[in-house]
Amino acid sequence: MMDVATAQILDGKRCSEALKAEIAKGAAAVKADRGRAPHLAAVLVGNDGASRTYVEAKVKACEAVGFRSTLIRRPETTTEDDLLHLVQGLNADDTLDGFIVQLPLPSHIREERVTLAVDPRKDVDGFHPVNIGNMVLGHDGFLPATPSGICELLKHYSIETAGKHCVVVGRSNIVGTPMSILMSRNAYPGNCTVTLAHSRTKDLGAITRQADILIVAVGRPEFISADMVKDGAVVVDVGIHRIEDATRKSGFRLLGDVRYNEVAAKATWITPVPGGVGPMTITSLLLNTLKAAQR
Ligand code: GUN
Repeated sequence: MMDVATAQILDGKRCSEALKAEIAKGAAAVKADRGRAPHLAAVLVGNDGASRTYVEAKVKACEAVGFRSTLIRRPETTTEDDLLHLVQGLNADDTLDGFIVQLPLPSHIREERVTLAVDPRKDVDGFHPVNIGNMVLGHDGFLPATPSGICELLKHYSIETAGKHCVVVGRSNIVGTPMSILMSRNAYPGNCTVTLAHSRTKDLGAITRQADILIVAVGRPEFISADMVKDGAVVVDVGIHRIEDATRKSGFRLLGDVRYNEVAAKATWITPVPGGVGPMTITSLLLNTLKAAQR
Protein backbone atom coordinates (compact mmCIF):
# COMPACT_ATOMS: atom_id res chain seq x y z
CA MET A 1 0.00 0.00 0.00
CA MET A 2 1.17 3.52 -0.73
CA ASP A 3 2.04 5.61 2.28
CA VAL A 4 -0.15 8.67 2.62
CA ALA A 5 1.89 11.72 3.53
CA THR A 6 0.43 13.62 6.46
CA ALA A 7 3.30 15.94 7.32
CA GLN A 8 3.30 19.57 6.32
CA ILE A 9 6.14 20.60 4.05
CA LEU A 10 9.02 22.78 5.24
CA ASP A 11 9.29 24.32 1.78
CA GLY A 12 12.85 25.57 1.35
CA LYS A 13 12.19 26.80 -2.15
CA ARG A 14 9.33 29.07 -1.10
CA CYS A 15 11.08 30.24 2.04
CA SER A 16 14.22 31.06 0.07
CA GLU A 17 12.18 33.05 -2.48
CA ALA A 18 10.78 35.18 0.33
CA LEU A 19 14.25 35.74 1.82
CA LYS A 20 15.76 36.48 -1.59
CA ALA A 21 13.25 39.28 -2.16
CA GLU A 22 14.58 40.91 1.04
CA ILE A 23 18.19 40.25 0.05
CA ALA A 24 17.58 41.92 -3.34
CA LYS A 25 16.37 45.06 -1.52
CA GLY A 26 19.49 45.00 0.65
CA ALA A 27 21.69 44.59 -2.42
CA ALA A 28 20.06 47.60 -4.10
CA ALA A 29 20.68 49.66 -0.94
CA VAL A 30 24.36 48.63 -0.87
CA LYS A 31 24.68 49.59 -4.51
CA ALA A 32 23.08 53.00 -3.92
CA ASP A 33 25.32 53.56 -0.90
CA ARG A 34 28.67 52.26 -2.09
CA GLY A 35 28.39 52.49 -5.85
CA ARG A 36 28.71 48.76 -6.35
CA ALA A 37 26.67 45.65 -5.71
CA PRO A 38 27.69 42.95 -3.18
CA HIS A 39 30.24 40.68 -4.85
CA LEU A 40 30.79 36.97 -4.15
CA ALA A 41 33.50 34.79 -5.71
CA ALA A 42 33.42 31.00 -5.78
CA VAL A 43 36.47 28.83 -6.34
CA LEU A 44 35.95 25.44 -7.92
CA VAL A 45 38.90 23.04 -8.16
CA GLY A 46 38.56 20.04 -10.48
CA ASN A 47 35.59 18.60 -12.31
CA ASP A 48 33.37 16.92 -9.74
CA GLY A 49 29.87 16.97 -11.23
CA ALA A 50 27.95 17.61 -8.02
CA SER A 51 30.33 20.43 -6.96
CA ARG A 52 29.92 22.05 -10.37
CA THR A 53 26.14 21.91 -10.01
CA TYR A 54 26.28 23.51 -6.55
CA VAL A 55 28.70 26.27 -7.56
CA GLU A 56 26.70 27.09 -10.67
CA ALA A 57 23.55 27.30 -8.54
CA LYS A 58 25.33 29.73 -6.19
CA VAL A 59 26.43 31.95 -9.09
CA LYS A 60 22.91 31.93 -10.54
CA ALA A 61 21.43 32.83 -7.15
CA CYS A 62 23.77 35.85 -6.96
CA GLU A 63 22.51 37.12 -10.30
CA ALA A 64 18.89 36.68 -9.21
CA VAL A 65 19.33 39.05 -6.24
CA GLY A 66 21.47 41.64 -8.04
CA PHE A 67 24.87 40.59 -6.67
CA ARG A 68 27.98 40.44 -8.76
CA SER A 69 29.55 36.99 -8.86
CA THR A 70 32.82 35.57 -10.13
CA LEU A 71 33.45 31.89 -10.74
CA ILE A 72 37.12 30.93 -10.55
CA ARG A 73 37.97 27.50 -11.90
CA ARG A 74 41.23 25.64 -11.39
CA PRO A 75 42.20 22.19 -12.70
CA GLU A 76 42.29 19.05 -10.53
CA THR A 77 46.12 19.23 -10.67
CA THR A 78 46.30 22.62 -8.91
CA THR A 79 48.77 22.46 -6.03
CA GLU A 80 48.02 23.46 -2.46
CA ASP A 81 50.47 26.37 -2.80
CA ASP A 82 48.72 27.61 -5.95
CA LEU A 83 45.39 27.53 -4.17
CA LEU A 84 46.76 29.27 -1.07
CA HIS A 85 48.14 32.02 -3.32
CA LEU A 86 44.79 32.38 -4.99
CA VAL A 87 43.09 32.67 -1.58
CA GLN A 88 45.56 35.35 -0.47
CA GLY A 89 44.78 37.31 -3.63
CA LEU A 90 41.05 37.09 -2.93
CA ASN A 91 41.60 38.20 0.68
CA ALA A 92 43.33 41.34 -0.63
CA ASP A 93 40.85 42.09 -3.42
CA ASP A 94 38.83 45.15 -2.35
CA THR A 95 36.23 44.59 -5.07
CA LEU A 96 35.16 41.34 -3.35
CA ASP A 97 32.98 41.15 -0.22
CA GLY A 98 33.26 37.43 0.30
CA PHE A 99 34.33 34.19 -1.33
CA ILE A 100 34.02 30.46 -0.93
CA VAL A 101 36.20 27.52 -1.87
CA GLN A 102 33.88 24.68 -2.81
CA LEU A 103 34.54 21.45 -0.91
CA PRO A 104 35.59 18.69 -1.26
CA LEU A 105 39.03 19.54 -2.59
CA PRO A 106 41.29 17.02 -4.38
CA SER A 107 42.97 14.72 -1.85
CA HIS A 108 46.46 16.25 -2.34
CA ILE A 109 45.18 19.57 -0.95
CA ARG A 110 44.67 19.92 2.81
CA GLU A 111 41.27 21.53 3.32
CA GLU A 112 42.28 22.72 6.77
CA ARG A 113 45.17 24.78 5.33
CA VAL A 114 42.86 26.38 2.80
CA THR A 115 40.09 27.12 5.31
CA LEU A 116 42.62 28.74 7.66
CA ALA A 117 43.99 30.92 4.86
CA VAL A 118 40.63 32.62 4.22
CA ASP A 119 40.26 36.05 5.87
CA PRO A 120 37.47 35.48 8.48
CA ARG A 121 35.89 38.77 7.35
CA LYS A 122 35.42 37.30 3.86
CA ASP A 123 34.59 33.76 5.02
CA VAL A 124 30.93 33.77 3.98
CA ASP A 125 30.83 29.95 4.28
CA GLY A 126 31.52 30.37 8.01
CA PHE A 127 34.15 27.60 8.00
CA HIS A 128 37.11 29.50 9.54
CA PRO A 129 37.88 28.63 13.19
CA VAL A 130 37.34 32.30 14.12
CA ASN A 131 33.79 32.17 12.80
CA ILE A 132 33.17 28.76 14.38
CA GLY A 133 34.46 30.18 17.68
CA ASN A 134 32.19 33.23 17.39
CA MET A 135 29.24 30.92 16.74
CA VAL A 136 30.01 28.81 19.83
CA LEU A 137 30.29 31.94 21.99
CA GLY A 138 27.16 33.50 20.49
CA HIS A 139 29.16 36.44 19.10
CA ASP A 140 28.57 38.11 15.78
CA GLY A 141 30.19 36.42 12.78
CA PHE A 142 29.36 34.34 9.76
CA LEU A 143 27.32 31.21 10.50
CA PRO A 144 27.93 28.12 8.36
CA ALA A 145 25.48 28.17 5.48
CA THR A 146 23.59 24.88 5.84
CA PRO A 147 22.95 25.03 9.62
CA SER A 148 21.96 28.69 9.43
CA GLY A 149 19.67 27.95 6.46
CA ILE A 150 17.95 25.25 8.52
CA CYS A 151 17.47 27.77 11.36
CA GLU A 152 15.93 30.25 8.90
CA LEU A 153 13.57 27.56 7.65
CA LEU A 154 12.45 26.61 11.19
CA LYS A 155 11.93 30.32 11.91
CA HIS A 156 9.93 30.88 8.70
CA TYR A 157 7.46 28.17 9.74
CA SER A 158 7.46 29.26 13.42
CA ILE A 159 8.50 25.77 14.54
CA GLU A 160 8.66 25.67 18.34
CA THR A 161 12.10 24.65 19.55
CA ALA A 162 12.45 25.70 23.21
CA GLY A 163 12.63 22.69 25.52
CA LYS A 164 12.40 20.21 22.65
CA HIS A 165 14.75 17.28 22.23
CA CYS A 166 16.70 17.82 19.02
CA VAL A 167 18.65 14.86 17.70
CA VAL A 168 21.26 15.67 15.06
CA VAL A 169 22.56 12.63 13.18
CA GLY A 170 26.03 13.17 11.71
CA ARG A 171 28.94 15.18 13.16
CA SER A 172 30.55 16.77 10.10
CA ASN A 173 32.37 20.07 10.53
CA ILE A 174 30.09 21.85 8.08
CA VAL A 175 26.66 20.53 9.12
CA GLY A 176 26.16 18.22 12.11
CA THR A 177 28.56 19.75 14.62
CA PRO A 178 27.58 23.41 14.06
CA MET A 179 23.88 22.45 13.85
CA SER A 180 24.09 20.84 17.30
CA ILE A 181 25.60 24.06 18.68
CA LEU A 182 23.01 26.36 17.11
CA MET A 183 20.09 24.26 18.37
CA SER A 184 21.41 24.38 21.93
CA ARG A 185 21.98 28.17 21.99
CA ASN A 186 19.88 30.44 24.17
CA ALA A 187 18.08 31.90 21.15
CA TYR A 188 15.31 31.17 18.69
CA PRO A 189 15.56 28.76 17.04
CA GLY A 190 17.43 27.00 19.80
CA ASN A 191 16.99 26.25 23.50
CA CYS A 192 16.75 22.57 22.62
CA THR A 193 18.19 19.68 24.56
CA VAL A 194 20.55 18.36 21.89
CA THR A 195 21.88 14.89 21.22
CA LEU A 196 24.57 14.58 18.55
CA ALA A 197 24.55 11.03 17.17
CA HIS A 198 27.22 9.64 14.85
CA SER A 199 28.72 6.49 13.39
CA ARG A 200 29.77 5.16 16.82
CA THR A 201 26.37 5.75 18.43
CA LYS A 202 24.88 2.57 19.89
CA ASP A 203 21.23 1.75 19.16
CA LEU A 204 20.70 4.82 16.99
CA GLY A 205 16.99 4.07 16.58
CA ALA A 206 16.43 4.29 20.34
CA ILE A 207 17.95 7.79 20.25
CA THR A 208 16.25 9.08 17.09
CA ARG A 209 12.85 7.85 18.36
CA GLN A 210 13.21 10.37 21.22
CA ALA A 211 13.62 13.29 18.83
CA ASP A 212 11.00 16.03 18.70
CA ILE A 213 13.23 17.57 16.04
CA LEU A 214 15.34 15.19 13.96
CA ILE A 215 18.06 16.65 11.73
CA VAL A 216 19.80 14.13 9.51
CA ALA A 217 23.13 14.80 7.81
CA VAL A 218 24.84 11.44 7.37
CA GLY A 219 25.30 11.35 3.59
CA ARG A 220 23.66 7.94 3.11
CA PRO A 221 20.58 7.59 0.90
CA GLU A 222 17.36 6.71 2.79
CA PHE A 223 19.26 5.96 5.99
CA ILE A 224 16.38 6.94 8.30
CA SER A 225 13.29 4.72 8.17
CA ALA A 226 9.86 5.36 9.72
CA ASP A 227 10.53 3.01 12.65
CA MET A 228 13.36 5.36 13.72
CA VAL A 229 11.05 8.38 13.96
CA LYS A 230 8.65 9.45 16.72
CA ASP A 231 5.03 10.24 15.81
CA GLY A 232 4.67 13.97 15.30
CA ALA A 233 8.38 14.74 14.88
CA VAL A 234 9.79 17.61 12.83
CA VAL A 235 12.22 16.05 10.32
CA VAL A 236 14.96 17.93 8.47
CA ASP A 237 16.80 16.01 5.75
CA VAL A 238 20.17 17.45 4.72
CA GLY A 239 21.12 14.59 2.38
CA ILE A 240 21.07 14.79 -1.39
CA HIS A 241 22.01 11.80 -3.53
CA ARG A 242 21.82 11.23 -7.25
CA ILE A 243 20.47 7.73 -7.84
CA GLU A 244 20.58 6.29 -11.36
CA ASP A 245 17.07 5.87 -12.72
CA ALA A 246 16.58 4.86 -16.35
CA THR A 247 12.88 5.75 -16.18
CA ARG A 248 13.75 9.45 -15.73
CA LYS A 249 14.64 11.75 -18.62
CA SER A 250 17.63 13.03 -16.65
CA GLY A 251 18.81 9.46 -15.98
CA PHE A 252 18.72 9.97 -12.21
CA ARG A 253 16.49 10.89 -9.30
CA LEU A 254 17.34 12.63 -6.07
CA LEU A 255 17.03 10.99 -2.67
CA GLY A 256 17.71 12.34 0.80
CA ASP A 257 19.05 10.67 3.94
CA VAL A 258 15.43 10.00 4.98
CA ARG A 259 12.87 7.61 3.47
CA TYR A 260 10.56 10.43 2.58
CA ASN A 261 7.21 8.73 1.98
CA GLU A 262 7.15 6.53 5.04
CA VAL A 263 8.59 9.19 7.37
CA ALA A 264 6.23 11.90 6.04
CA ALA A 265 3.33 9.68 7.12
CA LYS A 266 4.51 9.99 10.74
CA ALA A 267 6.02 13.47 10.97
CA THR A 268 4.19 16.78 11.47
CA TRP A 269 6.74 18.70 9.40
CA ILE A 270 9.33 17.47 6.90
CA THR A 271 11.76 18.91 4.36
CA PRO A 272 11.51 17.48 0.83
CA VAL A 273 14.54 16.57 -1.31
CA PRO A 274 15.01 18.50 -3.51
CA GLY A 275 13.45 21.80 -2.45
CA GLY A 276 14.12 21.63 1.29
CA VAL A 277 17.52 22.36 2.82
CA GLY A 278 19.39 22.86 -0.50
CA PRO A 279 17.87 26.21 -1.50
CA MET A 280 18.20 27.43 2.09
CA THR A 281 21.96 26.76 2.09
CA ILE A 282 22.40 28.96 -0.95
CA THR A 283 20.20 31.68 0.52
CA SER A 284 22.28 31.72 3.73
CA LEU A 285 25.37 32.22 1.62
CA LEU A 286 23.67 35.24 0.02
CA LEU A 287 22.69 36.56 3.47
CA ASN A 288 26.28 36.23 4.67
CA THR A 289 27.57 37.98 1.55
CA LEU A 290 25.10 40.85 2.01
CA LYS A 291 26.22 41.13 5.63
CA ALA A 292 29.87 41.26 4.51
CA ALA A 293 29.04 44.01 2.02
CA GLN A 294 27.16 46.02 4.67
CA ARG A 295 30.09 45.99 7.09
N1 GUN B 1 30.47 21.37 0.03
C1 GUN B 1 29.30 20.92 0.55
N2 GUN B 1 28.63 21.93 1.14
C2 GUN B 1 29.39 23.03 1.00
C3 GUN B 1 29.23 24.39 1.40
O1 GUN B 1 28.25 24.81 2.03
N3 GUN B 1 30.25 25.23 1.05
C4 GUN B 1 31.34 24.82 0.38
N4 GUN B 1 32.30 25.71 0.09
N5 GUN B 1 31.53 23.57 -0.01
C5 GUN B 1 30.55 22.68 0.30
